[in-house]
Amino acid sequence: MQVVVIGTGYVGLTAAACLAHLGHTVFGVDDDAQKIQALSAGRVPLYEPHLGELVQEGRGNGRLRFLSSLADALTGAEVALICVGTPIGAKGEADLSAVEKVARRLAEAATGPLLVVEKSTVPAQTGQWIARTLATTSKGAGVDLEVASNPEFQREGSAVSDFLHPDRLVFGVSSAQGEAQLRALYAPILERRINCPVHAQACPGAAPPVIVTDITTAELIKHAANSFLATKISFINLIADLCERLGADASAVAEGVGTDPRIGRANLQAGLGFGGSCFPKDLQAFVALAQQAGVDFNLLEEVSRINARRIDRAVEKLRQELWVLKDKEIALLGLAFKPETDDVRNAPALALAERLKAEGAVVRGYDPQAGPRAASATRAIAVVSDAYRVAENADALVLCTEWPDFAALDWSRIHKTMRRPLVLDGRNFIDRAKLEAFGFRVLRMGA
Ligand code: UDX
Repeated sequence: MQVVVIGTGYVGLTAAACLAHLGHTVFGVDDDAQKIQALSAGRVPLYEPHLGELVQEGRGNGRLRFLSSLADALTGAEVALICVGTPIGAKGEADLSAVEKVARRLAEAATGPLLVVEKSTVPAQTGQWIARTLATTSKGAGVDLEVASNPEFQREGSAVSDFLHPDRLVFGVSSAQGEAQLRALYAPILERRINCPVHAQACPGAAPPVIVTDITTAELIKHAANSFLATKISFINLIADLCERLGADASAVAEGVGTDPRIGRANLQAGLGFGGSCFPKDLQAFVALAQQAGVDFNLLEEVSRINARRIDRAVEKLRQELWVLKDKEIALLGLAFKPETDDVRNAPALALAERLKAEGAVVRGYDPQAGPRAASATRAIAVVSDAYRVAENADALVLCTEWPDFAALDWSRIHKTMRRPLVLDGRNFIDRAKLEAFGFRVLRMGA
């Protein structure tokens, strides 16, 4: 099929590259001319495992191209994916202005029948607004523009793998034809015909289940899924606080609770809480939507509050050890909101750095991928290019992101260069006994 992907960020670029890999002809479109220029030259402006490889593959075989002109990209297209950002608005609601602009421009530019697919995470009932906008804006007399919802469930750091091996596909459609077009879009995945860069041979597992429903239900599935995942994380962080008071081990509790298949072990890792561009935003948008609908979502508001308090807990732990934080040198290992990404949006490391700087501490930070983005996102961190340099003369070292490489660092060397051998493991992932054997005092979140 010929597909247009509008928005070439973490979601759109992954969708465009993967759909080209599946055999479709894909045009990536973006307002940011510089980004289009970079992508057309094969430069991928974000870090996501295997994404660069697929972009090069698509450019090489001509199935993936990047254009600034939506009209040119739409010529002959059957499907257009809306993958633009839906940031948090002033009152916590989703800012849908980019989505609305794309809907208008699609209606103005479309010259033939087109399935307009919501891929960006949007509040339920957005599809109705898009349909209305298409109908009232459409210049082309009688051009058949149909809306569908196909929410993405990709995690940053494993987005390519998640796209090519989805746990499920959700199709929110209003016609059999819309469903048929989405099935055709994903046919190589449904028929298990993909050789993927992640497994470098036939992928394991069976074809994913397909959930076909109406558009509003599909939109709501996405917010409900992310809100539940975030709820699990805040739940185990509550348990972690209690474990500290009672002398219990939150990781063992998570193990004992998570082995129940009705609960599941994933997303029960206590620590500095969730960041990223999805959970914080989706929770707020979901709460705002519920409020507009007259339903009390206090539970999810509390999930956000518990999450925000993780930074307070980390600051208090450091204060209990260092007494005065002013003029202390604090090193942050890991700045990205999670490993295998360079994304620092809502990253706990940045929130922690802002709090420590406000207390007069001097904060340095290192991250294998996210250093440059962190440096442009905040002035609270002096970003350095090396894990050992960040620890020099530090009064404390906080592990904010569980990059696997950090476990393999030469910790005896770090012990020698720190002013005080204090480590706060914000993700409970470093071997505590190993560090204590080097003479470190190791604090964790919940154990
Ligand atoms: C999430 C959803 O998982 C994905 O399905 C959706 O499409 C987009 O949002 P993402 O935000 O990329 O994906 O990453 P995820 O792995 O879910 O982690 C989100 C945050 O939660 C990270 O900051 C991570 O550190 C934190 N987290 C995750 C925990 O604190 N504990 C856990 O057990 C798991």
